[in-house]
Amino acid sequence: MKQIAILTGAGMSAESGISTFRDSNGLWEQYDVMKVASIEGWYDNPDLVQQFYNDRRAQLDTVEPNEGHTIIAGLERDFRVTVVTQNVDNLHERAGSSNVIHLHGELTKACNESKTQIYDIGTRPIRSGEKADDGSPLRPFIVWFGEAVPLITKAAEVVSEADIIIIVGTSMQVYPAAGLLHYARPGVPVYLVDPAEVNVSSNVEVIREKASKGLAIVRDKLTNTI
Ligand code: APR
Repeated sequence: MKQIAILTGAGMSAESGISTFRDSNGLWEQYDVMKVASIEGWYDNPDLVQQFYNDRRAQLDTVEPNEGHTIIAGLERDFRVTVVTQNVDNLHERAGSSNVIHLHGELTKACNESKTQIYDIGTRPIRSGEKADDGSPLRPFIVWFGEAVPLITKAAEVVSEADIIIIVGTSMQVYPAAGLLHYARPGVPVYLVDPAEVNVSSNVEVIREKASKGLAIVRDKLTNTI
C-alpha cells in the first residue's frame, strides 16, 4: 500500500465550527497568544491559561468531525495513512483515523509540569490549583510557544517515507511544523487544500477549496492511481 502523510492545521476543523488562529476573527484576534499559549504566559497567569484551554476543551462536546475528517479516515481503506496534525482537538480520531500524531499536544490530555506524567481527562476542566501525582501543577498537555516539539522527529520521518503528501488547513507559518514539507522525497506528489493563498513552493498542486470539498477532489485524483 502507498503511504500518505496528511499534514493538517486549524482550517481542517473550521467546518466543524472550531475557530482558526490567523483568519479574520480567529483566536489570535480575540486573545493575546503570548498570554494564553506560551510557557511565559503559563508562569505569569496559570488561571488565565487554564480557562482558555478549559473553554476550548469544553467546546469539543459541542462539535463533530466534518466531511473532510471523514474523507481522511476513509483513505485508510486503500492507503497507509498517517495524520500529522497541529490541531489539539480529537476530531481526526472521532472520524476514525487510526494513526494521528499531535505535534502541538491534545486538549483531552493533561500532564505534570515536566510532561513526564500524562493523564486522559476527556473534556473536563482542570481546576485552579489542581495538582499532578508528583505535586506539581496539573497543566494542559499542549505544546506552547517557547516549548519543544518532541514529535517533530517522528513527523519528519513520516513525511520522508511518504509516497503522497496532502496539506490541509494550515497557514504554514509556525515552525517546526511548517518546515516538514522539506523532508518530502523529490518527485513525491504534494497536494495543498486551502480556500486562501498559502505561501508554498511551486511544485505543490494547490486546490483552492475548503477542506471537505478539496479533500473530495484529492481523493478522486488518488482513487485513479490505486
Ligand atoms: N478549510 C481548509 N482550510 C481553511 C478553512 C477551511 N474551511 N478555513 C480556513 N482555512 C485555512 C486558512 O486559510 C489558513 O491557511 O486554514 C489555515 C489556518 O491557519 P492558522 O489559523 O494559522 O492555523 P494553523 O496553521 O493550524 O496554526 C499553526 O499556530 O498558534 C499556533 O499552535 C497553534 O497549531 C497552531 C499553529
